[in-house]
Amino acid sequence: MTRRSVVTGCGRYLPERIVTNDELAKRVDTSDEWIQQRTGICERRIAADGEKTSDLAINAAQKALSSAGISADDVDLIVLATATPDETFPATATRVQAALGMTKGAAFDIQAVCTGFIYALNIADNFIRLGQANTALVIGAETFSRILDWEDRSTCVLFGDGAGAIVLQGTDNSDSAAPRGILSNHLHSDGRHHDCLYVDGGPSSTQTVGHLRMEGPEVFKHAVNNMASVLGEALAANDMTAEDIDWLVPHQANKRILDSTARKLKLSREKVVITIDRHANTSAASIPLALYEAITDGRIQEDDIVVMEAMGGGFTWGASLIRW
Ligand code: ACO
Repeated sequence: MTRRSVVTGCGRYLPERIVTNDELAKRVDTSDEWIQQRTGICERRIAADGEKTSDLAINAAQKALSSAGISADDVDLIVLATATPDETFPATATRVQAALGMTKGAAFDIQAVCTGFIYALNIADNFIRLGQANTALVIGAETFSRILDWEDRSTCVLFGDGAGAIVLQGTDNSDSAAPRGILSNHLHSDGRHHDCLYVDGGPSSTQTVGHLRMEGPEVFKHAVNNMASVLGEALAANDMTAEDIDWLVPHQANKRILDSTARKLKLSREKVVITIDRHANTSAASIPLALYEAITDGRIQEDDIVVMEAMGGGFTWGASLIRW
């Protein structure tokens, strides 16, 4: 009997402050029209002064626990994906653990930038399949506003802050012909592309936090290719085709990347969950934020085939295929 991980709850938190494209156009030489046409972004949320990544994550985690109908005492693992931790150490996940009142189990951060949520999900799934954990909180939480160069119009318009969380629980239903839960995970990285997307600071290099730097068009090209190829890999591993997908929940980097990926796979655009218009790119938080919307508005239903995929700095990229 194979043990599988099933998503039993989902929560999110978005900072209150909405920043529109017009507001940004007062700060840098840009326009609502340029941003919408090139990216699909209309607005983004920005954390309040003093609001930390852990604050966002704690809120999302509490909502995920209540939607699963469990308490923090039931959780034995927290994996938190972030590239914008509160501090260099300890892990932001331990802040969440303390705030939830958990004193058992393990809590740690994982860093794969925009692919962070897929990496975190894969790790939590492995813990559950091995029997090392039974109930995991998997969180994506970011305050990218803290690492943006607000003078650089080519990057500062693209990102937002937010957090999403899911509860993952072990179940032994694999004797069924169509077992529910995570069916496969696929992770990749290729460190040769560091210079295309990185932060020019850090404790062992500059002793500063630094700012995000990106070769946008180069990242765009790789994103379409890598997202399409890892999606093909996930489908092949499960003897499925694009027609079997009920919902694609991708990392929200650019609406044009999502459209191109869907076109490449001949996947209907109605099956792609899109939140980039309101959230912008929230890095590791973007997939659970999109997932939350598609669950709460009733699009995702039990037994649906849901594929999540992402690509980010490193480069890193990956996908998870789930029968809901
Ligand atoms: N407003 C107005 N003009 C702008 C802006 C702006 N905000 N930003 C750039 N421009 C200008 C450029 O200066 C350039 O002007 P020029 O032709 O006079 O030189 C022109 O617009 C075109 O610039 P490009 O960079 O070629 O524009 P492109 O169509 O490629 O769009 C974008 C840029 C949106 C960044 C796109 O390349 C993209 O989305 N790339 C992928 C980003 C991504 O996927 N990131 C995900 C990973 S993020 C992570 O891991 C943290």
